[in-house]
Amino acid sequence: MNGLATEKVANGSRAHIVGWGMAVPERVLDNHGLSALVDTSDEWIRQRTGIVERHIAGDGETTLSLSLRAAQSALEVANLDPAQLDLVVVATVTPDYAFPATACLLQDALGAEHAAAFDLSAGCSGFVYGLSVAADLIAAGNYRHCLVVGAETLSRITDWSDRNTCVLFGDGAGAVILEANGASGGILSSVLGADGSGKDLLILPAGGSAQPASAETVQARQHTVQMDGRQVFRFATRIMPDASRQVLSQAGLAVEDVSLIIPHQANDRILQSAARSLGIEETRIYSNLSRYGNTSSASIPMALCEAIEQDLVKRDDILLLTGFGAGLTWAAMVLRWSLPLPVPVPPRRMTFWRNLRYRWVQLRSRWRRFWRRVDAHLFQILYDAEGRRKRGKGD
Ligand code: ACO
Repeated sequence: MNGLATEKVANGSRAHIVGWGMAVPERVLDNHGLSALVDTSDEWIRQRTGIVERHIAGDGETTLSLSLRAAQSALEVANLDPAQLDLVVVATVTPDYAFPATACLLQDALGAEHAAAFDLSAGCSGFVYGLSVAADLIAAGNYRHCLVVGAETLSRITDWSDRNTCVLFGDGAGAVILEANGASGGILSSVLGADGSGKDLLILPAGGSAQPASAETVQARQHTVQMDGRQVFRFATRIMPDASRQVLSQAGLAVEDVSLIIPHQANDRILQSAARSLGIEETRIYSNLSRYGNTSSASIPMALCEAIEQDLVKRDDILLLTGFGAGLTWAAMVLRWSLPLPVPVPPRRMTFWRNLRYRWVQLRSRWRRFWRRVDAHLFQILYDAEGRRKRGKGD
């Protein structure tokens, strides 16, 4: 199936990344475009954040559609059929709906008929949280193949008149496939943390049970991101190095062992500060912030995909993933890259059949929805007839 020798799924199996993919909307909004919307400038945004442009979802593009593209690419790299997936996790703060979970929509769109599915909300730490949960389920012997996606359409909850926040965010999705395997390496250790006392620092105040949607909440822009940037900045510069050191010590490793750090992409100054605090060169911290902005839970898997594509990852490299975000939450993970790179490109006929299968899965889903309606209608007719029969008999 891929470069790892597969073994029977067993208790204590390690989780290895065997597939990866990313997707961003076509539409790009650069800093000059933003300065036409709010009182800001290209110079201010570059200097204070490192961001130059971001991708913004177009009409009809959603967290699901971006997740689907990223997941299909990841499955392609893993040379895996969606029916082989046991679990689909989507980390997001911008699901298509409050419910059902975007993960369920993705499970249906992929035709992952044997997979359980759930969304995970842990702000920008969500992807690493998701990886950690999936890796533990694999280690417990429950699952062989897990799809973990980080995906966001933050542009839909951005206040485009607030220069403090609208310059920061972008849309995108990244996905990985985890495989249970007895081979050494893979995910070695993770640290997850939360401090809900910081809930007000980064929040979407309305639309939940605390403040249901109303004309007033809409008027007060309570359905858009509210952030105390300075406090989040201070928190991030402290927690990223702390969590990184903790996860490395848990894995019995030192900062010098790390080949590449793939951090949450929020602000280049936060990344520089983390590099100083950890005492490593900035070149060992991957950054693509300039092209995508902060894509929340999508930022780490997107950065990982790009690092792999740019040949920055080699077999046996130690990678450190680290993030922080709304909650407040933080997460760090260490893994030893176990797959030989580059992976062989699947033959074109395989891609053709897979695409055909996705079309068929789409039609099947429509048919199921249609049949559910017919079934409900037939049930109602029979139920009414039975009621009439009983009334006629005087029961
Ligand atoms: N253009 C021009 N001026 C601006 C802009 C802008 N876009 N935004 C703010 N300013 C002004 C402010 O009004 C302020 O003016 P004042 O001094 O007259 O009051 C001045 O610039 C400085 O503002 P600060 O907030 O101190 O700017 P700072 O250097 O802290 O940068 C920033 C702000 C970029 C938001 C920074 O604090 C940051 O990156 N914080 C972390 C944010 C973050 O990571 N959030 C995501 C978390 S992850 C998640 O879960 C989504």
